Amino acid sequence: MSKQPRAVPHHIAIVMDGNGRWATKRFLPRVAGHKRGVDALRACVRHCGDVGVKVLTVFAFSSENWNRPADEVSGLMELLAAALSREVPQLQAEGVRIHFVGDRTALSEKVRNGLALAEASTAGNERLVLNICFNYGGRWDIAQAAAKLAARGEAITEANLDRAMALAHVPDPDLVIRTGGELRISNFLLWQAAYSELYFTDKLWPEFDAAALDAAIADYGQRERRFGKTSEQVSPPAKPASRKAA
Ligand code: IPE
Ligand code: IPE
Ligand code: MG
Repeated sequence: MSKQPRAVPHHIAIVMDGNGRWATKRFLPRVAGHKRGVDALRACVRHCGDVGVKVLTVFAFSSENWNRPADEVSGLMELLAAALSREVPQLQAEGVRIHFVGDRTALSEKVRNGLALAEASTAGNERLVLNICFNYGGRWDIAQAAAKLAARGEAITEANLDRAMALAHVPDPDLVIRTGGELRISNFLLWQAAYSELYFTDKLWPEFDAAALDAAIADYGQRERRFGKTSEQVSPPAKPASRKAA
């Protein structure tokens, strides 16, 4: 019997958690962990492109992360601006299209300009879409989508809301990964993850390498996605072999 090809998720979303603990374990400042987190993200983007993932959505800064100590918040803002200007040429060469997802009104002009430039200069790329969720929250997204519909006088329907969401340019994530050992969603993709497969790992984000991503994809390949149906409906049993006369 021929083996079923292992499914590669079209869209992977990741809660990149554990940078702070990675640094603290090494007696380093938390921002050093975030720096290593950028390295892990670079490798992850490359590997996603190599294995055929088409969309990668990462949670880089949540609506609630403003409540962290001021030096960590400003460190994260600096890091985003620096990473964008440093990484975009390479991402460009790798065919990555960058989308910023989140409320940019609260960000500094420097960061907003960096985001706009990264989006504009990669807009023609098609190999991999990279959505960077920054100052993003699932509740913010649902509220801003509803506000858009209300302002346009459109009906509040699932289809209209879906079109007004910040991730309307991509299909829903097939696989949501959270590193860092916490078993929670933390306001990520509340609408879009309705039928995503969830994968949790104790690995801290700076330790999440290509092999760890392969393990998550392999685990996903074992899942049966039923979308509310029965197992028989989604994977009908193989037809019995025709009996030969004795
Ligand atoms: C995730 O790592 C990155 C951000 C939230 C910006 P953390 O900074 O939350 O790391 P831990 O959870 O404290 O280890
Ligand atoms: C989620 O991680 C947000 C990001 C990874 C950007 P947090 O570290 O903020 O989540 P909680 O506070 O532990 O739930
Ligand atoms: Mg955390």
